[in-house]
Amino acid sequence: MKYTLMHKNVAVADIEIDETLGGVTKIRNITAKEHLPVGTIRIQRDDEVVDRYAFNQWWTGRSIPASRMGVSDALETLGIYNTKLLLTKCLGLSLSDHYWIKPYNKNILWEDVNFFDNDFSDDIGDVLFGMNGKNADFDFVSPDNTSDGNLQKRWKIIDGKRCLLKSGSTPFIQQPFNEVIATLIMNKLGIEHVPYTIIWIDNKPYSVCEDFVTKDTELISAWRVLQLRQKENHESSYLHYVNICKELGIDIAPALDRMIVLDYIIANEDRHFNNFGLLRDANTLEWIGAAPIFDSGTSLWYDTSARGISTYDIPCKPFKKKHSEQLRMVSSFDWLDISKLNGIEDEILNILCEDNAVQYVEAERAKAIAAEVRKRIDTLEIIAASHDSYDVSSNGGDVEEVNAASYD
Ligand SMILES: Nc1ncnc2c1ncn2[C@@H]1O[C@H](COP(=O)(O)OP(=O)(O)OP(=O)(O)O)[C@@H](O)[C@H]1O
Ligand SMILES: [Mg+2]
Repeated sequence: MKYTLMHKNVAVADIEIDETLGGVTKIRNITAKEHLPVGTIRIQRDDEVVDRYAFNQWWTGRSIPASRMGVSDALETLGIYNTKLLLTKCLGLSLSDHYWIKPYNKNILWEDVNFFDNDFSDDIGDVLFGMNGKNADFDFVSPDNTSDGNLQKRWKIIDGKRCLLKSGSTPFIQQPFNEVIATLIMNKLGIEHVPYTIIWIDNKPYSVCEDFVTKDTELISAWRVLQLRQKENHESSYLHYVNICKELGIDIAPALDRMIVLDYIIANEDRHFNNFGLLRDANTLEWIGAAPIFDSGTSLWYDTSARGISTYDIPCKPFKKKHSEQLRMVSSFDWLDISKLNGIEDEILNILCEDNAVQYVEAERAKAIAAEVRKRIDTLEIIAASHDSYDVSSNGGDVEEVNAASYD
């Protein structure tokens, strides 16, 4: 079927979508090249052309990943065999950016359909959460069709605000508590972040955060930013990102310093290139700066039993495979006041041992986690004290890197 790709009210291109497979088969009549999704243009014989493969990746990447917890049950309930087929049912609208598709020649405005202003159905969220609701006549108009990530999640309007509810994973369902702990640490250290709280539904914890994207600013993931140009041979993946940001007018190193330090403290295992990014003004296309830090839950030994909780060999992303090596990429610790974290171990224990939480996290694990965090903060203090500030451009790729190509 034919659609116009829209960015708010700007018509960007005419596209054709195969309604049986969900892919984009044709892209033509580009009317606003500068509004095309970031990283979908390539140079061909000195000319800029839309890269159909990259465009398709961008479009299908808007759909719920097949790896999402519980997605096959949800699809069965909905009678749909592929999450890509959910995209057209909500016009591709999202609460993280401002792209959508308008049926060709239909007269619809962004104001009529966007989820920032307009209510949306709970049906898809209910199904994704395995809640007993309908089993037919679903209203598919929901931003849940365009949500990314592996954990079960749904958007809900709470007190008029668009909020993302996110579960944890078995066996400890710990990620929601981790989000709250990361919030606490970032509050204390003055790091720009998305604040998370906990909500209990049917005796299960979910993290809740407000939409940090607004009607005028949108999230562009670091992964998409990296698609703007190929990595030069002399660039590490860190420098690739830093240099592109510089080309866009953003000095990103201070934000990366803070992210790397946070991830070191909480032993984050999953800061892949779609778990951070930039904010862009959707109207002027002006780059604003780093997005506030979100999605820090896959951390704090979330899936490890008490005996395994130690600083040994924790996976690290996105720039290095080891946290100790990634920490060496920090350009300045001048902003870091470690004393702000005095007593944090007791506050972590309080969060993990809270009445309801303890049934999932267990006191023995909570104590081990709090003690390990304290150790990591002590090590961080020593490293920060002995750190000579150095030029970001010296942040080369001497140590084995995580392969950025695996995060599309
Ligand atoms: N508060 C928010 N406002 C707007 N968009 C958000 C918000 N939180 C998350 N997102 C978007 O939703 C996506 C999925 O959310 P999130 O990364 O928290 O889920 P996840 O399941 O933990 O992901 P992962 O698979 O990385 O573990 C993010 O990559 C981001 O694009
Ligand atoms: Mg994520």
